[in-house]
Amino acid sequence: MDIGVQEKRKTLVKNEVKSMKVNIGLKEQDSKVVAEVLNQLLADEHVFYIKTRNAHWNLQSADFHPQHLFLEEIYTEFATTIDDIAERIRTIGHFAAGTMKEFLELTNLKELSGRKENSLGYIEELTKDLEAIIRSIRENLQKEEVQNDLATEDFLTALLGDHEKTAWMLRSHLS
Ligand SMILES: [Fe+2]
Repeated sequence: MDIGVQEKRKTLVKNEVKSMKVNIGLKEQDSKVVAEVLNQLLADEHVFYIKTRNAHWNLQSADFHPQHLFLEEIYTEFATTIDDIAERIRTIGHFAAGTMKEFLELTNLKELSGRKENSLGYIEELTKDLEAIIRSIRENLQKEEVQNDLATEDFLTALLGDHEKTAWMLRSHLS
């Protein structure tokens, strides 16, 4: 990632809370880095969520019905995760990204372009995207700032396991 994009990400979400200062024993610099990590994850999860809904609506295959329901299970799970991530950002005293523009600026994923020929086309792309999210979470868990924020570290570790299981379910459709 080039420096310009990194700087843009840092300034995109205004991170200072103007109301009462959060005094929960987290170092300011640590919580700033954690908020950046979480906002980028929030953006990735939103893009993944929309891509899953897109597939749920638009796939055309002989296996339409089971895949339609399977994808609904996944995006429902992501809706909860998205809310949990945003609320964790607020809990540590920062603002959560909340516009489509911000999500598209912050995400590492690419939006779906065009239609896939069958359900497996959608599922293959979603598998790759979720694996990219998993790699990104694993990488962020190595950061000292994240390790200094125990509740975020715990949250991301649990999310890692949940996403790994969902990735297995997606991947199991592919031969
Ligand atoms: Fe639906």
